[in-house]
Amino acid sequence: MRHVLVTGGAGYIGSHACKILRASGFTPVTYDNLSTGWREAVRFGPLVEGELSDREKLDATFARYRPLAVLHFAALSQVGESVRRPGLYWRNNVEGSLTLIEATAEAGCLNFVFSSTCAVYGDQDGVLLDESCALHPVSPYASSKRAIEEILRDFERSHGLRSAIFRYFNVAGADPEGEIGEFHRPETHLIPVVLEVAEGRREAVSIFGTDYPTPDGTCLRDYVHVMDVVEAHLLGLRRLERGGESRVFNLGTGHGYSVREVIEQCRRVTGRPVPVVESGRRPGDCAALVSGSARARRELGWEPTRSDLGRMIADAWAWQQTGHYDS
Ligand code: UFG
Repeated sequence: MRHVLVTGGAGYIGSHACKILRASGFTPVTYDNLSTGWREAVRFGPLVEGELSDREKLDATFARYRPLAVLHFAALSQVGESVRRPGLYWRNNVEGSLTLIEATAEAGCLNFVFSSTCAVYGDQDGVLLDESCALHPVSPYASSKRAIEEILRDFERSHGLRSAIFRYFNVAGADPEGEIGEFHRPETHLIPVVLEVAEGRREAVSIFGTDYPTPDGTCLRDYVHVMDVVEAHLLGLRRLERGGESRVFNLGTGHGYSVREVIEQCRRVTGRPVPVVESGRRPGDCAALVSGSARARRELGWEPTRSDLGRMIADAWAWQQTGHYDS
């Protein structure tokens, strides 16, 4: 069997990756501590419950499954929380990833696909961000991802570990077949929060900052459908299997939507009212993060076919109404 080790396979993006891997003839082996992921989301291959910091368990997992690659999604990923608790982010994300990367390289598994973030670029005065931009992370979350990118470069020199590093912009939407979707407790991401308001589960959505240097004063983000994101991972994996060199790829569409525009689109898709409360900026947020890169399209043949904002919200809405793991 063609096993792929998927850390964070019980989480939002990782579970969608497992689905597409399975559909493409691989067997995804989820490695997850279930701290933020869901057992019910592991539907496409075996689950190994373990910590990234548990070297013995990692070694046993590599020995048992002999994966041809690792897709590394497991991470804490809330910008605001990382500002309040930097130690947690450095320990979990960086120390945990270091243990995983070392275990991977020493097991002789030399293909590594890593989930990084556009937040590594930080604010760059309205320029579209491509992979050649300098990195200026403004939150511990973003710094932790940049550090892991550097660790991967060092292990390429020492062990020949090749990587595809994906810097995601804002991942949204859900499996259009409704099997899996985004589910965080507590939920902090904009689209699911707005949809919870539309559903009547929250009273209002807070807009974090209305005085940014953007057209309507709220933050701009580049939203990309989770199925498009995991499709890129598959293409990245195949590239590594063919012997392709290490490469960094942005995953975004090149179009930025403001917080107010996203809320308006949610009103349209759901047909429900969404009350808002204007509040202060959230520490660690950048004003605008919009991908200017065509590299993934050019070099991987990636086409984000589902990343229309209305469609992403419609998929998220369908999932939110039917698919919660605990309801
Ligand atoms: N926002 C609100 N109100 C909310 C939630 C969010 O106004 O209740 C705003 C945020 O301030 C931000 C935008 O909506 O301007 C998007 O916020 P999210 O929390 O949905 O996403 P982030 O941009 O902070 O972060 C997400 C992922 C990160 C990833 C990053 C890349 O959580 O892992 O996208 O931009 F790195």
